[in-house]
Amino acid sequence: MKQYDEKIGRNVVCPCGSGKKYKKCCIGKAGLQPVDLSQYYYKKHKIRLKQPEEIAGIREAGKLVVDTLAMVAQAIRPGMKTDELNTLVHEFTLRHNARPAPLNYKGFPKSVCTSVNEVICHGIPGERILLAGDIINVDVTSILNGFYADANKTFFVGTPGRDAQKIVNVARESLKAALDAVRPGNTIGDIGFAIQQYAEGQGCSVVREFVGHGIGCDFHEPPQVPHFGRKGEGIKLVPGMVFTVEPMINLGKAHLRILTDNWTAVTADGSLSAQFEQTVLVTETGYESLTPFDL
Ligand code: MF3
Ligand code: CO
Ligand code: CO
Repeated sequence: MKQYDEKIGRNVVCPCGSGKKYKKCCIGKAGLQPVDLSQYYYKKHKIRLKQPEEIAGIREAGKLVVDTLAMVAQAIRPGMKTDELNTLVHEFTLRHNARPAPLNYKGFPKSVCTSVNEVICHGIPGERILLAGDIINVDVTSILNGFYADANKTFFVGTPGRDAQKIVNVARESLKAALDAVRPGNTIGDIGFAIQQYAEGQGCSVVREFVGHGIGCDFHEPPQVPHFGRKGEGIKLVPGMVFTVEPMINLGKAHLRILTDNWTAVTADGSLSAQFEQTVLVTETGYESLTPFDL
């Protein structure tokens, strides 16, 4: 039946739950009702598989996020306040006819997250002055024509020391390892497993309290994408899923605490933490980054 082939990739795991490839399972069964994978994923997991027009919209938002991060990379220098980065991101976003998703999101007071050194994530831009040797993660989420894309990078301020180089490299390679696991038939657990295997193998630790997330029509959609896990566990990846992968990696222990501003997450042991994030689409053969930048 043609309808099957178009809606569900032939090589995708069959939505009936057999664990077999679709082409080896229900695709061949006479008399079976057409299975709408989108409906199945929404009913079962509350995951909205994206239609081509939605994907195109998220891709456009993603281009703006990548351009914003490139602008930030050029602007970062020792002596600047993190609030200056907020102003740059805010104005750049508006100038490109988009809105910064963080601003007023659950009470977040600024337009971007800036997380320096021991700050794991959700750092609030302010009076902190960047010093040579610092690392800073800048996490940008833009809403363009109603579509959301989310990505972040960790930058060096001035010349990095050994610890800074190590944690930023491990965080970058962790995201690479994760993206290599994104393809139909693999599971969300395979993504977390790949990250954990790599990062812990390097003597670093993986933050548990914050996860990747579905995205596109809203900031945070199902599913959650933990950065730790076991092979084969969790929801099967199917084409049309759009989610972020954003492992937070600590040089010391994984534990965190939240500052009294109720946002800033810092390592409990004061060790450095780094992160890279991209928004990805599961395709028939693997993935496409909708916030493409070289890792
Ligand atoms: N961009 C973050 C993420 O990757 C979320 C930030 S929420 C905010 O999911 F309110 F702090 F902006
Ligand atoms: Co995110
Ligand atoms: Co983000």
